[in-house]
Amino acid sequence: MKVPFNDLYALHAGIKDELNDTLSKVIETNAFIEGRFLEAFERNFAAKLGVRHCIGVGSGTAAIWIALKMAGVKDADEVILPANTYVACVEAIKMTGAKPVYADNDAYFNLDPVELEMKISSKTKAVLPVHMYGQPAQMDEISKICHSHDLIMIEDCAQSHFSKFKGQYTGTFGNAATFSFYPGKNIGAMGDAGCIVTNDDTLARKIRLFRNHGFEQKNVYEIEGFNSRMDGIQAAILNLKLKYVDRWNEKRRTLAKMYLDLLSSCTSISLPEVRDLESHVFHLFVIKAEYRDELRNFLTAKGIGTGIHYVQSLPEIALYNPGGDVKKEFPNSVKNSAYLLSLPIYPDMTAAQLNYVVSSIVDFYKERN
Ligand SMILES: Cc1ncc(COP(=O)(O)O)c(C=O)c1O
Repeated sequence: MKVPFNDLYALHAGIKDELNDTLSKVIETNAFIEGRFLEAFERNFAAKLGVRHCIGVGSGTAAIWIALKMAGVKDADEVILPANTYVACVEAIKMTGAKPVYADNDAYFNLDPVELEMKISSKTKAVLPVHMYGQPAQMDEISKICHSHDLIMIEDCAQSHFSKFKGQYTGTFGNAATFSFYPGKNIGAMGDAGCIVTNDDTLARKIRLFRNHGFEQKNVYEIEGFNSRMDGIQAAILNLKLKYVDRWNEKRRTLAKMYLDLLSSCTSISLPEVRDLESHVFHLFVIKAEYRDELRNFLTAKGIGTGIHYVQSLPEIALYNPGGDVKKEFPNSVKNSAYLLSLPIYPDMTAAQLNYVVSSIVDFYKERN
């Protein structure tokens, strides 16, 4: 049996006619840049999330950079981010000229509020919580800290589309939030795309101007800008997929519950700590595994795709190393990176495929131990 890490072929086969129809409509109307498909997607995404504004941009990485920059982050500022996250976060902070400051993660693989508070200095301007693997960070504590220190908060929701913290959607807590629609995300484009959401009218207008060379009216340049627009084809595809994302997230949750149940007696792995099953969207199902690399090779040989998110935490990457003793300063993130393994999870995964992954893991440890 084959179990890919993710199966976009199956996902797109399930909505093939609607996809073809959608693409034809974009081609027939020439609405490639701006226009009705982008407007419709921005309106529908904002409405589903319950926010005033959604602004489509070129990628999730650009979204973080633009949100931070337009919120006022600049040279000599510090921005606190989790040590355990994707490289895009540190890249985007560095693009603003600010200094990235890492905080270690909690037991849920997310920014630890206690660590966050310890990293605040007189130069701290903003905080970038990331809802890792689809599970919300502790937004009550993090919001309180940002509020009491008067810090900008930009949430990175690249992995958490429509997850909720205590009943409230991630992406609705901070000054703004960013999303990635990389093809493999819970709702993905057919290329690069991202967006920024916010309830702040002034910030929304600045972001809208910036992503389009600083103008709203042709040849009237209001601010220095850039070109980072979500194109019409991606917007139309995302608008179609928006109808399905709740169903797909529900399927991911069902599969995650099966993994949690079937793997509970396997003592050589640690299952992910889940705060609230019903509000996690399981972009990734990440375990900690003894003999991780051997297990990964064993699963590959059995036709099972896996991933590692991430091979190194950000402070361990030479380019982004903050100096000092990273093992001591970020013990959770550094320790985890040797054990993390992401198992296949995607809406079209069958129970038989999941059972095959589980029995293969059990077989590996039977042979190895
Ligand atoms: C947590 C996180 N932030 C940002 C990004 C960047 O998004 P994009 O690939 O759309 O630039 C990703 C994408 O993988 C991500 O996982």
